Amino acid sequence: MDPSTFDFAGFYRERVRAASRPERPPDYWDGRAASMSERGFDTPYVRAFLARLDLAGCSTLLDVGCGPGTIALSAAPRLAHVYGLDHSPNMLAAFAANARARGLTTATPILRSWDDDWTDVPVCDIVVASRSTAVPDLEAALVKLHVVARRRVYVTYPADGHLVGDDVRRALGREASALPDYLCVVGLLHQLGLRPTLDYLPGENRLAEAADFEEFRARIDRLLGGLSVDEVPRLEAYFDERRGRPPASEVRWALFSWEIGG
Ligand SMILES: C[S@@+](CC[C@H](N)C(=O)[O-])C[C@H]1O[C@@H](n2cnc3c(N)ncnc32)[C@H](O)[C@@H]1O
Repeated sequence: MDPSTFDFAGFYRERVRAASRPERPPDYWDGRAASMSERGFDTPYVRAFLARLDLAGCSTLLDVGCGPGTIALSAAPRLAHVYGLDHSPNMLAAFAANARARGLTTATPILRSWDDDWTDVPVCDIVVASRSTAVPDLEAALVKLHVVARRRVYVTYPADGHLVGDDVRRALGREASALPDYLCVVGLLHQLGLRPTLDYLPGENRLAEAADFEEFRARIDRLLGGLSVDEVPRLEAYFDERRGRPPASEVRWALFSWEIGG
């Protein structure tokens, strides 16, 4: 393979198709809005993300796939205005409620999908997509972020392509990558003429909080988009073996950032 001519964008699209990940329409995210709003803000991931945001010389921020506003609303006190774009009405309702609870009048929700027309989406100094790039065509999504950014873009993507750690996947007998590896994103950005900085953020080990096997199974099922009949007893054996201890392997996020015109 010659990396200078390899079609990273096409490879990515093909891998996503092959992984046959479940569709996650707005109503799936609507159902997650309350819990994400309640527990999503003060976490190691969000703290690490905010610590890496360079807001120097910036007054506006657009957060794509903003959810309840974890990134945009946390950064808002340091900015003149923030916008949260999401396709889930409940996430945007949580965004608005969280802005009010913080006394912020400088936060605007935008009901929109990655696939929609973004012609009227405001160009902002900083554009962020945090844990929200699960799209079939990542190249198109990255270009969209770039076009609405004036100064800098920040994007996170599951490092190693997994939302569930190696040990759980091994216990299930799943060795293959669920998503294209983040190295594919490096290649894709490079071919778009962008020179990203790469960093890593800690994931959140929500699996460790499962009170019993049913809760653990439900969480894995949701993250993987379904478990087969054969996989459930394998997962139960894994859970019993590790009882009281979190899954061994942490899931990390790759953080890509780049300067506009840089
Ligand atoms: C895992 S949450 C991340 C929320 C927040 N950015 C964070 O990091 O805490 C993913 C968010 O992306 C949104 N999302 C998923 N697919 C989308 C799409 N096609 N268009 C717009 N938003 C989308 C979901 O509604 C959800 O709020």
